[in-house]
Amino acid sequence: MSPRNALRTTTFRLALAYLAIFVASSATLLGFIYWATSGAIDRESEQIIEAELTGLREQYRQWGVVGLVRVIEERSKGDRADDMRYLVAGPRFERVTGNLSAWPPELRDRRGLVEFPLKVRVGDRQEARQTMAMAFDLPNGFRLLVGRDMKERSEFRERVLGAIAWSLALTLAFGLAGGYWVSRHLMRRVDAINRTSSGIRAGDLQQRVPVTGKGDEFDQLALNLNAMLDQIERLMSGMRQVTANVAHDMRTPLNRLRARLEVTLIEKPDEARYREAIQETIDEADRIIATFNAMLSIAEAESGAKTESMARTELPPLVDQIAELYEPLAEEKGLALSVEHAGRAVARADHHLLSQAVANLLDNAIKYTPSGGSVTVRTAETAKGAEITVADTGPGIPAESREAVLARFVRLEQSRSTPGNGLGLSLVQAVARMHGADLLLEDNAPGLRVTLRFAAVANGRSTAK
Ligand SMILES: Nc1ncnc2c1ncn2[C@@H]1O[C@H](COP(=O)(O)OP(=O)(O)OP(=O)(O)O)[C@@H](O)[C@H]1O
Ligand SMILES: [Mg+2]
Repeated sequence: MSPRNALRTTTFRLALAYLAIFVASSATLLGFIYWATSGAIDRESEQIIEAELTGLREQYRQWGVVGLVRVIEERSKGDRADDMRYLVAGPRFERVTGNLSAWPPELRDRRGLVEFPLKVRVGDRQEARQTMAMAFDLPNGFRLLVGRDMKERSEFRERVLGAIAWSLALTLAFGLAGGYWVSRHLMRRVDAINRTSSGIRAGDLQQRVPVTGKGDEFDQLALNLNAMLDQIERLMSGMRQVTANVAHDMRTPLNRLRARLEVTLIEKPDEARYREAIQETIDEADRIIATFNAMLSIAEAESGAKTESMARTELPPLVDQIAELYEPLAEEKGLALSVEHAGRAVARADHHLLSQAVANLLDNAIKYTPSGGSVTVRTAETAKGAEITVADTGPGIPAESREAVLARFVRLEQSRSTPGNGLGLSLVQAVARMHGADLLLEDNAPGLRVTLRFAAVANGRSTAK
């Protein structure tokens, strides 16, 4: 991934947003510290100036102008002279004594604390220093000025402003670098997924998203995607299998049909033979159509898109109807077909498809049970929900084959002599799935017992999805 793309990611934008919030809040915090501290220095200076003034006024009261002048002269030379400013001036602001050369114009007619830049000599240079000062009028026209150099505060301000600038600059730098790093890191993971999907689009269905094993959300996504791809691959290969089976299974009857017509043509038959051949052809075509219909029904049930046709259905009448259709067939084969109902079994069902499924079960039971046996269809309302059971006394299906016979075109070796395509139970299974019903194949000792168990219906609605 190119560095420019990393800057365009959502992650990087999010990092920028967080950075902006962080910078704003730290600037606010540092600004507050700055404001509070420099305010404290101001107040300290005010207190010092006021205390000096009070002290000097006291001197004046005790010793008069002469005493005051002496004290000021002393203080102007002492340690305090570094940052304290003193001046005694006459009525026309003429300097009497102190460490200032002239009365500052800013203080001529202002009372109280005044802050102004004051020119002072530092070594051999003149420097404008921010100064806080206060003037006091003495009786007989003299005046006293006490001030403080605010150099300390200026230095402090400079240092704090420098620190703020540096910390903001560093925060920005780290934030940008961090955001860039994180988004590159995440993009690498996303890229792996993108690479896999383009590989798959290019035709390589075998590709899978790499899993790092960290167990994070990307691994989760990769596992899910891979599971989905496995499923798609399985479905595709199933589809391929079914297509091959369909082609194979259709070829046999079509070949048979064609051969019969050909033989009839060569035989130079009479009209009766023609009639017979045409009738056989129609029968064969019917069987082919029936197979296609079965496959269509399975596809229809598997698409599961018929939820609007699902309605509250009473199972006993549905089963009675089908059983009646199969009664002659059972009788013809010498089988005892009985129907039993226990309770008012109700399920949410698609009437047409469910009828087809029950018909397939009955068809199997009658087809595979030798004459003299019996077939029983039962509906029941149990605690687990409504049930339809079709049981026979035939050869049954060995336990290890019960799963396999549900697949399309699968027929047991023992049934090769009977007609069929191996689609009946596939349809039953597709219909069961579509209804959210359980399909159970069990031993009827002897014979096979197939149960369709539907979810209980509450207030006319199925709880099954
Ligand atoms: N009641 C049964 N008793 C014994 N074997 C059965 C029974 N029902 C199904 N089978 C076995 O399961 C296989 C699959 O059944 P299925 O109904 O899917 O196909 P089919 O009956 O062979 O053909 P079709 O139903 O498409 O006409 C059958 O070929 C048979 O071997
Ligand atoms: Mg069948």
